[in-house]
Amino acid sequence: MPSQENGLFIGNFKANSVEAKEWLRAFRSVLPEVPQEAQVVVCPSYPELSDWRKAIVTAGLPILLGSQDLSLFPPGAYTGEVPAIMLKRYNVTAVIIGHSERRSKLGETDEQLAQKAVRALEAGFRVIYCVADTSVRVPSGVSVVAYEPPGSIGSGKPDTPENADEVIRLIKKQTGVQVGLYGGSVKPDNVAAFLREPAIDGVLVGGASLTGDSFASIVKNGS
Ligand code: PGA
Repeated sequence: MPSQENGLFIGNFKANSVEAKEWLRAFRSVLPEVPQEAQVVVCPSYPELSDWRKAIVTAGLPILLGSQDLSLFPPGAYTGEVPAIMLKRYNVTAVIIGHSERRSKLGETDEQLAQKAVRALEAGFRVIYCVADTSVRVPSGVSVVAYEPPGSIGSGKPDTPENADEVIRLIKKQTGVQVGLYGGSVKPDNVAAFLREPAIDGVLVGGASLTGDSFASIVKNGS
């Protein structure tokens, strides 16, 4: 793996409830110490951020909190929205923007996503910007790009490590972004093959991040 980032592991819980204490207990049972070079980020749903923040502090594990989304608006009359400043109160340090499910199921456009990236960057978040292929425009200031082919998300059919490496290499070349992740059916038994590729610096994990032992196995096998 390249020197820029040595293993960035992001768990995206999506709209699933994940009990923080139980998850952290299971994580620790597989991985008592997070390897020094690994960075672990979990992204619970909004209502569970508070529990997660407290449970991580109590557990004393070096796990960071991320958000699955944020509002493109500032605080104010925007019913149902969660602006960046509110996320900061929960110690959120990173935000996923442009996940394929938000593009396809909620109709988010490149323009809206670019505005979200501006909001996130203004708030000092690390932006994890998701793209389906090399044709997607990546807003400036984004530091992490996650290549997630839609057909591989939740399907049990990951891309090949060689193709993912080639796509991520091209995206880095086109955008100047230095950290590239692969996402789509990453599991404990295939993570090492992705992270062995030179352009892949980490993984974005959905289903296999929902239990602490499975996600810890991913961090262990990928580090
Ligand atoms: P998956 O999801 O790991 O369940 O395929 C990945 C993602 O949606 O980021």
